[in-house]
Amino acid sequence: MAIGIFDSGLGGLTVWDAVQARLSDVEFVYMADSAHAPYGVRTPDQIFDLTCASVQKLFDAGCDLVILACNTASAAALRRMQESWVPENKRVLGVFVPMIEALTERQWGDNSPPREVAVKHAALFATPATVASRAFQRELAFRAIGVDVEAQACGGVVDAIEDGDMILAEALVRSHVDALKRKMPTPEAAILGCTHYPLMKDVFQDALGADVAVFSQADLVAESLSDYLKRHPDKMGTGKAAFMTTGDPKTVSDRATQFLRRRIDFVAA
Ligand code: DGL
Repeated sequence: MAIGIFDSGLGGLTVWDAVQARLSDVEFVYMADSAHAPYGVRTPDQIFDLTCASVQKLFDAGCDLVILACNTASAAALRRMQESWVPENKRVLGVFVPMIEALTERQWGDNSPPREVAVKHAALFATPATVASRAFQRELAFRAIGVDVEAQACGGVVDAIEDGDMILAEALVRSHVDALKRKMPTPEAAILGCTHYPLMKDVFQDALGADVAVFSQADLVAESLSDYLKRHPDKMGTGKAAFMTTGDPKTVSDRATQFLRRRIDFVAA
């Protein structure tokens, strides 16, 4: 019995960490498409093709439910996958909606019309492909009115994290926050719209200031998944816990171990 978790690289481990802590009796198969990361600079067609190939590997590993723990894939490919590619007996869910529900103070599946919410000025930090998709603004508009969103494409941050260059990652985060603040000097909330960014959450918070509420996805996704599995226990699948990568298993294992501060062993996908 295992649920699939997919990311282009290591960022989805922030989601894996939260879901396995929350659902300790569930096994997870993690798939990192490290050979093709970052996705954030690719076209929607490339992101669709790569995401389908990785999700297929998770289906082949016995998963009936796959979480795209990748905003870029959720924003650029998920809808097309659900409409034209996912087989009838499988489910693929993204990480966008739980975060927007938290920002707009909604319960899961609340389909009432959009309404005014407390947050009026929100900063979105995400990859160039996620920002270009405008998926966040589209989903937000279904749920809230009067929220001004300023999006900052954070080029280079995912590459630096994948390379383990945290000094460069920190410098880039600070310069992206400065750029955002030039456009929106006083956001009330900041959304970390890439699953790699929680690894830099302290830097975002420090650069933004203590009075900005920083939303990151891991715990929100864990809560939504727990709720989903209560209603769909048939989606547990037949796989066994594993970490798979299209990259070099040793390099990816070492980085993952460094980030999560516990031994993680990837195998070749
Ligand atoms: N963790 C992915 C996300 O949430 C990173 C995307 C990338 O590979 O650029 O968007």
